[in-house]
Amino acid sequence: MSNVTVIGSQWGDEGKGKIVDWLSSRADVVVRFQGGHNAGHTLVIEGKVYKLHLLPSGIVRPGKISVIGNGVVVDPWALLQEIDNVREQGVEISPKTLKLAENATIILPCHSAVDGAFEAARGKGQIGTTKRGIGPAYEDKVARRGIRVCDLADKDILKEKLGRLVLHHNALLKGLGAEELDPDVIYSDLMNIAPSILEYADVVWKTLDEAQSAGKKILFEGAQGMMLDVDHGTYPFVTSSNICAAQAATGAGISPKMIGHVLGITKAYTTRVGAGPFPTEQQNEIGDKLGERGHEFGTTTGRKRRCGWFDAALVRQSIKTGGIDGIALTKLDVLDGFEEIKICTGYELNGKQIDHMPASQQAQAELKPVYESFQGWIESTEGARSWAELPAGAIKYVKRVEELIGAPVTLLSTSPERDDTILMHDPFSAV
Ligand code: GDP
Ligand code: IMO
Ligand code: MG
Repeated sequence: MSNVTVIGSQWGDEGKGKIVDWLSSRADVVVRFQGGHNAGHTLVIEGKVYKLHLLPSGIVRPGKISVIGNGVVVDPWALLQEIDNVREQGVEISPKTLKLAENATIILPCHSAVDGAFEAARGKGQIGTTKRGIGPAYEDKVARRGIRVCDLADKDILKEKLGRLVLHHNALLKGLGAEELDPDVIYSDLMNIAPSILEYADVVWKTLDEAQSAGKKILFEGAQGMMLDVDHGTYPFVTSSNICAAQAATGAGISPKMIGHVLGITKAYTTRVGAGPFPTEQQNEIGDKLGERGHEFGTTTGRKRRCGWFDAALVRQSIKTGGIDGIALTKLDVLDGFEEIKICTGYELNGKQIDHMPASQQAQAELKPVYESFQGWIESTEGARSWAELPAGAIKYVKRVEELIGAPVTLLSTSPERDDTILMHDPFSAV
C-alpha cells in the first residue's frame, strides 16, 4: 500500500476537494503542503456543503489526522475563522486531530495590503490574484524576513521581527500610495490570538515520519493547479508556490519516496479564474453554457470563472512537469447535452504546429488551439456510479482523453456529491 498525492492539472478548481474527501476514507492522515487560503475546496456530503480554504479536506471525517505543512502560508485569523465555521457545521476539530507545522510562514495584514496595492498599480497587467497576501508572504519567506508559527511563542523575537517586516512593507505601501500599517497594532492583535494558534503547533515532519513508520496511509492534498505553478505555469500569471507533486516532500518535510501515487485532478473541460493566457477559452455561448452547467464561480472570491474546451496538450504537459501517474476526471456530467464537444490536441504558433505550451508570455498569448471534434451525447451521466451507466459517447470521450494525455483515468466524478464517483483503479494500491 502506498501514499497518494493529489494535485490539480489545469488552472485550479478541478474538484480536488471532492476527490480528496472521497479518497480520505482510505487514508489515516491528510496533509496540505503549499498555497494558503487562496484555495477553495468544496465538499458536498449528502447535500451538506463544506467550503475549505486552509483546512485539509479530510477534516470532516472523524478519526483522521489533518496536517497543515510547512509549505503552506497561513493567515492565522483566517485559520481560526475557518475552524469556527467548520465547527459550526458539526465537525470536531481539536489539537489531537489538527496539526499545524511550527515552521510554517504566517500571512499578516501587511501582506494582503501589499498584494492589493501591487494589483492596483499593475493596471491592465493585473494577475487577478485573490488578494489574500499569498505572493508577498512567500516573498518574505524566501527573503528570510518571514514570521513563522513558532515565533508566536517568543514575544521578544516576534516584536523585533515584526518591526523590521512592517518597516519593509510600509516603504512599499508608501511608494504605492497606500495606507501604512502600525506594527504595534499587528503585534497586539497577534498576541491576542497566539495561544489559540499555538495549541495546534506541531513538529509535523516528525508526526508524518511516525505515521509512515506505523504503516499509516498518508494523503497529500495540493492546492491550485499545474498551470499556476510558479516554475511550470503560465508565468507571471501564476501563484507564488510550486504545485507539482515534488512540493509535497519539501512542503511537509518528508522523503520524496513517500509521495506515492500521484493523482492529477482534471476537469473534463477547462476553467481559469484571474488573468492570463487560456488558448481554449470560449467567450461565447459555449463558455456561458459550461459556466452555467458547471456553476463556475470561485469558491474563495466568488469571481466568475472563464470557461473553455478541454486542452489535452496542456494536461499532457502537466502530467510530465507535475509527476502525475493517473488522473481523476471530474465534471463529466457538465458536458451532457452538448451537440459537439471539442478537445485541443496541440497549438499553432506562427504557422507552425507545436505540441506544448511554450514558456514565453508573448508566445502563450498568440497560441491558436488545434481541435479534434466529437459528437456529444444526449443521455445524462449525472450521478453515475459505475462505468456501465455511462453512455457510449461519454466512454469514447474518456478513452480519447486518456490517449491524448498519455495517462489513465483512475477515477471519474459525475456530480458534486461525495459518492457520485467511479473508481477504476485504487490509487492507494497503485504503486
Ligand atoms: P478544487 O479547488 O479543485 O477543490 O475545486 P472547487 O471546489 O473550487 O471547484 C469545483 C466545483 O465543482 C465545486 O463546486 C464542486 O462541488 C464541483 N464538482 C466537483 N466534482 C464535480 C462533478 O463531477 N460534477 C459536477 N457537476 N460538479 C463537481
Ligand atoms: P484551488 O486550490 C483557481 C489564481 C488566482 C490568480 C493567481 C494568483 O481552489 O484550485 P494568488 O492569490 O495565488 O497570488 O493568485 O492564481 N488562484 C487560483 N485559481 N483555484 C485556486 O485554488 C487558486 N488559487 C490561486 O485567481 O489568477
Ligand atoms: Mg477551488
